[in-house]
Amino acid sequence: MSQRSISRDGGRLFADPGQDGLLHRAFLRGGGFSAEDVRRSPVIGIASSASELNPCNAGLGDLAAEVKAGVREAGGLPLEFPTISISEPYTRPTSLYLRNLMSMDVEEMILASPIDGVILLGGCDKTIPAQLMGAISADIPALVLAAGPRPVSCFQDNDAFTVGDVWPVCEKRRLGQLDDEEWFAFEGRTNIGVGTCNVMGTATTMAAIAEVLGFAPPGSTLPAAASSARREIARLTGAVLTAADNPWPRPSELVTMASLENAFRVITALGGSTNALIHLEAIAGRAGLRIGIERFEQWSRTTPVLADVRPAGSFLLDDLDAAGGIPEVMRRLSDRIDTDALAGDGRRWSEVLAERAPAAAHPALRDTQNPIAERGALRMMRGSLAPGGCVMKLAAGAPAVRRAPVVVFDGLDDLYARIDDPDLDVTPETILVLRGLGVIGAPGMPEVGHLPIPRKLMEQGVEDMTRISDARMSGTSTGSVILHVTPESAVGGPLAKLRTGDIVEIDADAGTIDHCVPAAGFAAREPIMQPMTAERGYARLHREHVLQPDAGCDFDFLTAAELRTDAR
Ligand code: FES
Repeated sequence: MSQRSISRDGGRLFADPGQDGLLHRAFLRGGGFSAEDVRRSPVIGIASSASELNPCNAGLGDLAAEVKAGVREAGGLPLEFPTISISEPYTRPTSLYLRNLMSMDVEEMILASPIDGVILLGGCDKTIPAQLMGAISADIPALVLAAGPRPVSCFQDNDAFTVGDVWPVCEKRRLGQLDDEEWFAFEGRTNIGVGTCNVMGTATTMAAIAEVLGFAPPGSTLPAAASSARREIARLTGAVLTAADNPWPRPSELVTMASLENAFRVITALGGSTNALIHLEAIAGRAGLRIGIERFEQWSRTTPVLADVRPAGSFLLDDLDAAGGIPEVMRRLSDRIDTDALAGDGRRWSEVLAERAPAAAHPALRDTQNPIAERGALRMMRGSLAPGGCVMKLAAGAPAVRRAPVVVFDGLDDLYARIDDPDLDVTPETILVLRGLGVIGAPGMPEVGHLPIPRKLMEQGVEDMTRISDARMSGTSTGSVILHVTPESAVGGPLAKLRTGDIVEIDADAGTIDHCVPAAGFAAREPIMQPMTAERGYARLHREHVLQPDAGCDFDFLTAAELRTDAR
């Protein structure tokens, strides 16, 4: 087939009376589409990240059928296409390493295809950020359909077993407290259905961000993956984008400093994942904005935690949904967010909230007069150990101020070789440091910043210690962990010069993190840096172009050419 034009005319190409239009229609007819089908308008692409190599997203295949039904009911032509899919448990070396590649895949497939709008089917942690980044850069009307949380399970005496309960069981196995039979039974009880992690981890945090930014219909984040509500949301998502009377807002219109502030305040109120900081900054960068850790800190400081939901709280995502979900969180924060921002049904959030009756009182969601905490658990810090910043998710009841000697581990092999050594020189006050695991060093910042408590301290009942790393942490983990230390040690950040026995001082309330080594002596030290080899292909592209966490770990050539810091 030869084209007469190379212009990107979206779905209009199917209506072209000439050769290009005929061939567009003819190729679909060969696939079983009727003469009426190929004349439907608009043409809505369905970018699916369903994959057997990504079990969290495996249900998206069935949901795609519902999205298509919604598009058809509204008169449009749905055309599904696959993209890269990124799985947290399966993707090596790390999932973040491939996020930017997936965003490029999404962007280029949107731009290359004869479609007028796109519905992005995602779920597992990196998939929705990658899809949003790609859609913002492509800048055609887009909505997200999240896979939804998987069902909770039961194991031993826990009849509401979530992914957050997996880690303590793994620790029991590490300590020899779980036999082979129990370990095998555990394998079959961990995940009992498709869908994303069933706590307020990164996947649900990012789905909530998509909803608040206006990329998903109000109330669409929390219904379970296999529920009738999720299927209805899929159909609605297809219909609402197709049937829009007015021009649907472009992604670049949805992402403003005000909507980013809304999104961050909502996830603060939800006790969301630390990974949101990196993804929100990358999303902002695609729209020409830079948030910066000072602004994140100011938003966190002035937003109460309202949701008592796992992994940090007590209730399940289903309970939070019953308490009113994301729209109810928006309502309860309405004195500190911008409800003029657009929602994912074509209206403003103020109109959405005016139509919904306030939800009845529910213990899973407090109000601002009676919050779980007066301010968010995320503390952004800078100092001589992290000039570009870092983030701490301060565990409930943990002291905000620490001053203690460190024990330094150089990468995972060193960590696992020594962490359970009976002779390891640690006390409960020691600060554990894991370096060499940043976005370039690992590469891709594996979720290992939540390094294990040394066995001999666990046996004494120690459950939390201060830990510092240039890695990330799973949104399903908790603890007093300082992450995303920037710049990372692999590029010579101060972490690379830290030595076991040095004193580190942390004041999470003041937002500072410093080593207490005299400046001249510290500057004279040789940094400990692993040699990096990435001579070809994507590994080389990543090493040469990826930005540090304070710039969202995006590639320098994918962010907008100019970044504004003052825009609302
Ligand atoms: Fe896929 Fe948690 S591992 S959502």
